[in-house]
Amino acid sequence: MNNEWVGVDLTDARAVLERALELYHPRIALASSFSLEDAVALDILMSIRKDARVFALDTGRLNPETYECAEALRRRYGVRIEWYFPRHDAVEQLEREKGLFSFRESVENRKECCGIRKVEPLERALSSLDAWITGLRREQSVTRTDLQPVETDAAHQNIAKINPLAGWTLHDVWTYAREKRIPYNRLYDIGYTSIGCAPCTRAIEPGEDQRAGRWWWENPEHKECGLHINMRSWSPTI
Ligand code: ADX
Ligand code: SF4
Repeated sequence: MNNEWVGVDLTDARAVLERALELYHPRIALASSFSLEDAVALDILMSIRKDARVFALDTGRLNPETYECAEALRRRYGVRIEWYFPRHDAVEQLEREKGLFSFRESVENRKECCGIRKVEPLERALSSLDAWITGLRREQSVTRTDLQPVETDAAHQNIAKINPLAGWTLHDVWTYAREKRIPYNRLYDIGYTSIGCAPCTRAIEPGEDQRAGRWWWENPEHKECGLHINMRSWSPTI
């Protein structure tokens, strides 16, 4: 795998995505939560090939602004978004047994809800792919400081995980989005810096960490939902 990336500038998001598509299309897709990072990654991807694939996990608890953003991006790029929904029987059982806000009661309950609404649908989405693309950045949190642009995802059958914006700052992302006039999630206008499920995400206060609004009642070390597990077996050196 290492040889396939020789000569690619891994700090250049476009170069990374070009090589990733050469290697894996059509068994590669961008995972989009309709954050600004994902919108930027989508813009670069669409400029490389119009038929690049995108999938999204509709947890059933997203903000209306997120659905609006998804539609705006769908229209702008003419892209078909491959939506995944949680298993209805698992959601019905969770809501009947534990109510609608069980995730507030303990980290265990929160991970159970994320497991049903995000992790299981993600596994279905990845099951037919050889690589996935994310909008993850190192700067986002203490759990992401060792993130690499190209990784092997040991948590998902060792498929490739491409993080083209790994080294970008929040400022870099906004600069790109403004230059290209990319439709963005309106939650950013009311102080959000991370996009997740409505009941588990809030706007942040000045000076707070970029992911402070996610599961704000938990410790920073717990703030991952299981989509991104730190199990990396390989990445090229840059
Ligand atoms: S999370 O693990 O806490 O939910 P975060 O919201 O920071 O992750 O998003 C990181 C990346 O995970 C996004 O850039 C996107 O690639 C992917 N992702 C997160 N949520 C979703 C979703 N609902 N659907 C598809 N991809 C998602
Ligand atoms: Fe459930 Fe909250 Fe996780 Fe969304 S972020 S899946 S509502 S616990």
